[in-house]
Amino acid sequence: MVHEKQVALVTGGNRGIGYELVKQLALKGFKVILTSRNPENGHEAAQKLKQSDLDVSFVVMDVDNQESIHQAAIIVNDRYGRVDVLINNAGVYLDENEKLLNMRPSILEGTMGTNFFGAYHVIRSFIPLMEKQGYGRIINISSEYGAMSEMSYQGVGAYKLSKLALNGLTRLVAAEINGDIKINAVDPGWVSSDMGGPSAPRTPKQAAESILWLATIGPEGPNGEFFRDGKRIDW
Ligand SMILES: NC(=O)c1ccc[n+]([C@@H]2O[C@H](COP(=O)([O-])OP(=O)(O)OC[C@H]3O[C@@H](n4cnc5c(N)ncnc54)[C@H](OP(=O)(O)O)[C@@H]3O)[C@@H](O)[C@H]2O)c1
Repeated sequence: MVHEKQVALVTGGNRGIGYELVKQLALKGFKVILTSRNPENGHEAAQKLKQSDLDVSFVVMDVDNQESIHQAAIIVNDRYGRVDVLINNAGVYLDENEKLLNMRPSILEGTMGTNFFGAYHVIRSFIPLMEKQGYGRIINISSEYGAMSEMSYQGVGAYKLSKLALNGLTRLVAAEINGDIKINAVDPGWVSSDMGGPSAPRTPKQAAESILWLATIGPEGPNGEFFRDGKRIDW
């Protein structure tokens, strides 16, 4: 009997932490779907990994666009018929050193749109594939900025609220889903990517290594929790 590979999907997989998550999932033996909102960038990133003999393919998906998410879910269902691991990694940091009440509302709306509603719509569209097989592992890439304790300090308001909401979504969905489907959030630390900047102490590779244990937790594993470096964080 041929062993069917597990399928993993990563949003915003063309660069930064997402690209490294795709690479490491493929190295662990997953068939990985790299998704990206930009077709050229996504295709190029997937090609680069394929050249290293990794089982990576590309599907376009803009998490700000519900129709794009819907179409991606149809393609994934047709081509693979399953998703075992879903990583909501796509994110933006649009804050410009302004207080929440002084910033242009479009900054908050855009940040919530990608970091919160993006993840929400992706989960909504892909969870039926997990429910079909009674199995799934969902990882939401959050941030320590999403901890409730962070709301006591001004600054970075749009980003903080988007990750607070993402953490809440993680817990709520965990309470709603049945079967062996787990959803957890994780803080990757301060990572040297376009978002984190060059001074960040942690590489995308180290960040991905600290995240991916959640992709293979067993039926007794955590559900609805928030982690950093394998340790549960209160938020
Ligand atoms: N870096 C850090 O220090 C840090 C710390 C805590 C949490 N995080 C979180 O980690 C995740 C990855 O961050 P990163 O550091 O790798 O950031 P990054 O280098 O800026 O990459 C962000 C990724 O998200 C994608 N993206 C943005 N909007 C999208 C949309 N509407 N649809 C699809 N993809 C979209 C980008 O695609 P394009 O190339 O098309 O723009 C890119 O692939 C984010 O959720 C971030 O909030 C990062």
